[in-house]
Amino acid sequence: MNTAAKLEIDGKVHTLPVVEGTEQERGIDIATLRTHTGCITLDDGYGNTGSCLSKITFIDGEKGVLRYRGIPIEELAQQSSFIETAYLIIYGHLPTRRELQHFSDLLTQNENLHEDMKYHFEGFPSTAHPMAILSSMINASSCFYPGLMGRWNPARFDVHTARLISQVRTIAAFSYRKSHGLPVIYPKPTHKYTANFLHMMFSEPYLEYELKPEVVRALDLIFLLHADHEQNCSTATVRMVASSQANLFACAAAGVCALWGPLHGGANQAVIEMLEEIHRSGDDGSRFIEAAKDKNSGKRLMGFGHRVYKNYDPRAKIIKQACDSLFRALHVSDPLLEIAQRLEAAALHDSYFLERKLYPNVDFYSGIMMRAVGIPTEMFTVIFAIGRMPGWIANFREIMDDPHSRIYRPRQVYTGPALNRYVPIEDRAEPAKA
Ligand code: SDX
Repeated sequence: MNTAAKLEIDGKVHTLPVVEGTEQERGIDIATLRTHTGCITLDDGYGNTGSCLSKITFIDGEKGVLRYRGIPIEELAQQSSFIETAYLIIYGHLPTRRELQHFSDLLTQNENLHEDMKYHFEGFPSTAHPMAILSSMINASSCFYPGLMGRWNPARFDVHTARLISQVRTIAAFSYRKSHGLPVIYPKPTHKYTANFLHMMFSEPYLEYELKPEVVRALDLIFLLHADHEQNCSTATVRMVASSQANLFACAAAGVCALWGPLHGGANQAVIEMLEEIHRSGDDGSRFIEAAKDKNSGKRLMGFGHRVYKNYDPRAKIIKQACDSLFRALHVSDPLLEIAQRLEAAALHDSYFLERKLYPNVDFYSGIMMRAVGIPTEMFTVIFAIGRMPGWIANFREIMDDPHSRIYRPRQVYTGPALNRYVPIEDRAEPAKA
């Protein structure tokens, strides 16, 4: 296999080193390109551009493979928990009993918000989107920890990490309660991570929420499956902000904003809205499929397609199976699940989708599972953000630990006006009336 690539331009041949990864994926290192050729590369959407070397997550999009620190997602989904997987992603190894207990204790010690944070919640209108509240309140929370604002201090990483992972859950639950005019429910130190979140979301001051094991397990699995996904849009955003040496909470707040977009983490909410639209219209799905294939319709089959997976997203397979067993355990059904299954069957036999290698991604079934758990649609992307926090933190740490880390500052090719002159306003002609 070549360990170097040759590029010829202006009659000269330049040699560029080739970097090979653990799974034999290769990257052409262009660090010297501009110095030697005066050229930069262009890559719309960064579809062919690696921004970093990373040891956290491996994806093989053609084969539908996903591994956290080398462990297949299927094994973690089957045998692990969200918090154990979060530890694996952040610290690079599965925790021993003692390590896991210490991590769990740190999460419990840091689960409460500073009491003055409640004044910030008061300031949001009840119609505020929970993702807007989440990104704002992550930054607001950091103001109560001056140690966080100073320069990077690895000795404080564990407590900042535990605080962020624990509090993002409390902020999410508080924002939901506030937006529904409900009294906030404080975390219970006796509850584990996911059970505590459900308690804070759905208990009342006079009535404890009944924690069904199947429901707790289903939500914990959703968090686990979202925990990291290499250089996706929001994680790349976190690395971009971390490269300026911003603090962990600022990076996470930026990640929340990137995740919110309907083409990214907002897709789980968009899938349910799409399925509800189909259900209301009485369409059996075939009309929507045709619209999704028509570029002029402005519609896409949300939850389908992926920049990296050109095969079935392994997380979608796991969620689909978990959906079936959850519905059986709860003795419930959902017409939206049947519609989703019809859409999937139709798309997977339609040349438009097959030619473009468009398969269900993590968002296609996750919303249906969250509905069954009782999570309101407007909270779906918040659930995604809670799950993705360990991945963002691990990528933040990779940047901070890298002695050669440089600020991310892409180049561009300028296509604006050539040299121009300032014209005083009195000499500027009004455009002729159309
Ligand atoms: C996530 O990157 C990650 O890892 C993200 C994620 C993670 O864990 O962090 O996996 C989570 O964000 C999953 C993706 C959720 N988004 C959606 O489900 C929204 C619907 N999907 C798409 O908009 C789209 O597939 C993307 C955004 C996911 C990927 O976009 P790309 O790689 O830029 O692909 P593209 O838009 O260039 O599409 C290629 C072709 C186009 O048609 P042609 O111009 O070739 O004729 O496929 C078509 C697109 O129009 N296409 C779709 C489609 N997705 C792509 N057509 C209809 N329905 C779709 N869903």
